[in-house]
Amino acid sequence: MRVVVVGGNGQLGTDVVRAFADNGDDVLPLTHADIEIGDGEAVANKLHELQPDMVVNTAAMHHVENCELQPDRAFTVNALGARNLARAARDIGAVLTHISTDYVFDGCKSSPYEEEDPPRPLSVYGNTKLAGEYFVRSTLDRHFVLRTSAIYGKSPCRAKSGLNFIELMLQLAKERGEVRVVDSEFITPTATSDLARQIVALGRCESYGLYHATAEGACSWFEFAREIFALTDTKVNLKVAGPNEFPAKVRRPRYAVLENRGLKLLGLNTFRPWQEGLHDYLGIPHLNTRYHQRLERNENVGDLPD
Ligand SMILES: NC(=O)c1ccc[n+]([C@@H]2O[C@H](COP(=O)([O-])OP(=O)(O)OC[C@H]3O[C@@H](n4cnc5c(N)ncnc54)[C@H](OP(=O)(O)O)[C@@H]3O)[C@@H](O)[C@H]2O)c1
Repeated sequence: MRVVVVGGNGQLGTDVVRAFADNGDDVLPLTHADIEIGDGEAVANKLHELQPDMVVNTAAMHHVENCELQPDRAFTVNALGARNLARAARDIGAVLTHISTDYVFDGCKSSPYEEEDPPRPLSVYGNTKLAGEYFVRSTLDRHFVLRTSAIYGKSPCRAKSGLNFIELMLQLAKERGEVRVVDSEFITPTATSDLARQIVALGRCESYGLYHATAEGACSWFEFAREIFALTDTKVNLKVAGPNEFPAKVRRPRYAVLENRGLKLLGLNTFRPWQEGLHDYLGIPHLNTRYHQRLERNENVGDLPD
């Protein structure tokens, strides 16, 4: 298969390029310098020139505060950009795999969101990504729209300039010795390498549509930090941040957990528990810390890793 990956040097795009290449596909990564997805004519010309069988769109304007400040630009990239790619893919007979987000939901539910749950975005980012989903779904039949959550990868996130949550936690622990993290927002940390593998697996079938695509399980940001410190045996004073300690500039869903119901119904869900993706990221093959030995013995581990 000939695959174009838009955003091919981004956090997710880098792993998507690698995953298709490992699968023996002919992969063409496109950076922002190669294509501006907000420009319909440029998109049509580029895809016509490259004639891929599949286009994977990982490009987005996804810095949530910047989207709020520049709603027109956010709509151009996240909604019209998706539409431009969908139209061009349809015209050359290619499949479009488009990446969307858990931020299409308001987070008021207390059990994982399924694909049929009504979206209700709280932000410009969420609204423009939802509009992008609708454009893709209404423009070409041969699409996969994948909503994911809290991704992290070895390649830095370009929009958020540098450190992902894991690296930030480790840096703060080293610099300060005490780290404070919110315990009231829930997510599923998802390794980009795991998401990339899922994209390749799904791309082999013709069950087009909308899918939730995150690692299994869920945690709060505090629990995510606790796992990072436990796995790396980092000595740090980890505390729950107070409710007003880090006031958010933009409303975010309190509970952004997705159920991969569609993938499971197809028998194609390749995701594993989020902790396992984190192990691989950190280069730790087994549950081998004292913290995890205590967990396995069902002993109380308290708030902090020892
Ligand atoms: N980060 C998360 O936790 C999260 C959660 C849920 C969903 N998502 C979604 O996951 C996807 C991938 O995120 P990521 O972390 O891999 O992002 P990233 O590292 O910022 O990469 C995005 C890529 O897209 C390119 N790009 C941005 N605007 C473009 C445009 N107008 N035209 C063409 N290329 C453009 C960027 O190039 P430049 O940097 O050179 O502009 C970069 O190569 C996005 O769709 C995002 O909405 C992310």
